[in-house]
Amino acid sequence: MRGIAVVTGASSGIGAATAHALAGDGWRVVVGARRADRIEAVATEIGARSHPLDVDDAGSVARFAAFVGATDEDEGGAVGPSRLLVNNAGGALGWAPVADADEHQWRAMYETNVLGAVRMIRALLPLLEAHGDGTIVTVGSIAGHEPYPNGAGYNAAKFAVRAVMSALRQELLGRPVRVCEVDPGMVETEFSLVRFGGDAERAAAVYEGVTPLTADDVAECIRWMAARPPHVNVDQLVVLARDQAGARQIHRHGAERD
Ligand SMILES: NC(=O)c1ccc[n+]([C@@H]2O[C@H](COP(=O)([O-])OP(=O)(O)OC[C@H]3O[C@@H](n4cnc5c(N)ncnc54)[C@H](OP(=O)(O)O)[C@@H]3O)[C@@H](O)[C@H]2O)c1
Repeated sequence: MRGIAVVTGASSGIGAATAHALAGDGWRVVVGARRADRIEAVATEIGARSHPLDVDDAGSVARFAAFVGATDEDEGGAVGPSRLLVNNAGGALGWAPVADADEHQWRAMYETNVLGAVRMIRALLPLLEAHGDGTIVTVGSIAGHEPYPNGAGYNAAKFAVRAVMSALRQELLGRPVRVCEVDPGMVETEFSLVRFGGDAERAAAVYEGVTPLTADDVAECIRWMAARPPHVNVDQLVVLARDQAGARQIHRHGAERD
C-alpha cells in the first residue's frame, strides 16, 4: 500500500479519473469537490473517503485538511510509504477578448486555479513533509504556456499556477517534498461545458473532428509521476493529443474537405 493521496476536484473529469487510477495503484485516496453527491459516488466506486471541499473558501479547506489528518491517523499515520496532494480543482470561465474582460470571471478563475491550489498546499504541506516523502502534483494547462485570443483570463491564471509551482520547488529544495506539474492540452471533460456556462452545443464543437485526450490519459500521467522513486521529480509534463500541436494549432479531421 502507498500512503494517503488527496485529489481535489474529484467529482468529474480528470480528478475523478485520477482518483480511480491512484486507488488502483494502491493509494488510500481522499476525494474532495463541491458536489458532495458526486464525490461520494466516486469514493464508493473505489473504496476511497470523501469530504466536501470548496478550494475558494479557507474555512472549507481547513475542515477538509482536518478530515485528511484524521483519516491519516485512522489509517496508521506514517505507515504508508508516501503522501500525495493532487491539486486538480479548477477550470475556465468565459471566452472573450481582453477588451471585454469580465472581472468577475477573471477573479473566479484566479481564486480557484491559483489561490485554491495555494490554500491546499499550505494546509497539507506539514503532513506531506512530516512523512519524509511527499509529492504535490498540480494540474496546469497548455494555456499556461501559450496565450490565445479570448483566453487571457484563463491563460493568466494558469501562467500564475506555473509561477507558483516553480517558486515552491525552489523554496522546498532540500526538503522531502516533490513539486510536479502536469500541463494537458484539450481533454474531453465537463471543462468546456463549464467554460461556456452550460451551453452543450458550444462545448461539443470544441472537440468536433478531433480525438482529444481523455481524463484517463491525464490520470495515467499523474499516477506515473507520483509512482516515480522519491529522488525523481517530474517538474513539468506537457501532454497533448496527437491532433494538437500547441494551444491554438488543432487538426480537425474532415475540415480539410470543407
Ligand atoms: N479539459 C481540458 O481541456 C483541460 C486542459 C488543461 C487543463 N485542465 C485543467 O484540469 C483540471 C480539471 O478539469 P477537468 O477538465 O477535469 O474539468 P471538469 O470536468 O469541469 O472538472 C473540474 C473539477 O474541479 C472541481 N472544482 C471546480 N471549482 C472548485 C472549487 N472551488 N472547489 C473544489 N473543486 C472545484 C469541480 O467540482 P465541483 O464543481 O463539484 O466543485 C470538478 O470536479 C482543471 O484545473 C482544468 O483547468 C483541463
